[in-house]
Amino acid sequence: MPEIPVPAVAVIVVAAGSGSRLGRDQPKAFVPLQGRAILEHALSGVFGLAEPAQVIVVAPEAQLAEARVIADRVAGSAAGYVDVVAGGDTRQASVARGLARVRAGVAVVLVHDAARALTPAALIDAVVAAVRATGHGIVPGLSVVDTIKSVDADATILGTVDRSLLSAVQTPQGFPRAMLDAAFAWAATLPATDAAARDLTDDAALVAAAGNAVTVIPGDPLAFKVTTPWDLRRAELLLGADAPAPAAAQRVGTGLDVHAFDDTSALWLAGLHWPGERGLSGHSDGDAAVHAICDALLAAAGLGDIGQVFGTADPRLTDAHGEVFLAETLRLVTEAGYRVGNVTVQIIGNRPKLAPRRAEAQELLTGILGAPVSVSATTTDLLGFTGRGEGIAALATALLIPEQVHPSIRATLA
Ligand code: CTP
Ligand code: MG
Repeated sequence: MPEIPVPAVAVIVVAAGSGSRLGRDQPKAFVPLQGRAILEHALSGVFGLAEPAQVIVVAPEAQLAEARVIADRVAGSAAGYVDVVAGGDTRQASVARGLARVRAGVAVVLVHDAARALTPAALIDAVVAAVRATGHGIVPGLSVVDTIKSVDADATILGTVDRSLLSAVQTPQGFPRAMLDAAFAWAATLPATDAAARDLTDDAALVAAAGNAVTVIPGDPLAFKVTTPWDLRRAELLLGADAPAPAAAQRVGTGLDVHAFDDTSALWLAGLHWPGERGLSGHSDGDAAVHAICDALLAAAGLGDIGQVFGTADPRLTDAHGEVFLAETLRLVTEAGYRVGNVTVQIIGNRPKLAPRRAEAQELLTGILGAPVSVSATTTDLLGFTGRGEGIAALATALLIPEQVHPSIRATLA
């Protein structure tokens, strides 16, 4: 077995919060972002450090095993350096639990929020280097771009804060180990009413309250903290979640439908009523174009076909028009985890002449499906049953794209 060198740096990754502002049903660090937990993204940055480091993941009690699996996966051959410990009720308590596990020989300790999922390794390296160069606490920070007002409890503006004196600080925050140990030991001696004894939301505040110098170095916009659903959306966009899904994950389907003319019915086709045209027979309104679209969508999603899903016995479908079929099909397809990419449908028959109402039909169907629908038409040069004017056929193709963005995020964008 090769000797594992004692690392000189430890990174405490705090991931024990609940994520109340994100509002999901699992702790924030375990919420998926592009198919990987937020914690996994954060650890990818940490394990990108230029030098070997001890990595201490502080996780909720109930997620210790999950955190261990994630950490080992990201660590790969560096797995020997990974510790996983249970966190406390506050961020500060969680940091303290992590700090207690720092190994002998470590001289520089970084504390990093797992919620800063996209923090580049270069920023982490820069914090380590600055701690060594200065011998004091280092935090990355960005200048504030908005004009900041101070307000009272009634939201009345009291004044404008001088922006040049502000820095929006991030993590990782780095400290000489002895300084961080001493600051936490000092906080533990304070009466429980003292803010520094209870919970400061970052480590620099505690270290500074203990009387130490802390300096800001340039932060990185990518080190933003995932706090609200909007932040998660931003992270998804930065990772390209809305780029086209790999071709293999997209699905196409085709659908064909035929109905015979029936002079006693009104014509409904492509969702429109066509006064003065021969109608089509059928249990519903006989709209061959809509039925072909439903078949194509169901086939693409692997949900069977229109006969199986709707069944002619359903009394709700007697004389039902296209939107009833399309809305229910869309609901099933969405439930199966897809959104509609686009749909084409070609109507085959001598009549009606589509051209004057093509735009109207496309607009209607596009509105119902929430995705582009193209409608075209052709004759069969007087050949076959359509050529003889016995009925109408329609042939549809649908493309479905797997939904990658969580529905709750989509809802906030609507
Ligand atoms: N954290 C922690 N232990 C706590 C509270 C927070 O380890 N008791 C961690 C979080 O997991 C997060 C980081 O501290 O990575 C920054 O905290 P924050 O963004 O506030 O996360 P949460 O406290 O989980 O979120 P919220 O405040 O919205 O509930
Ligand atoms: Mg919090």
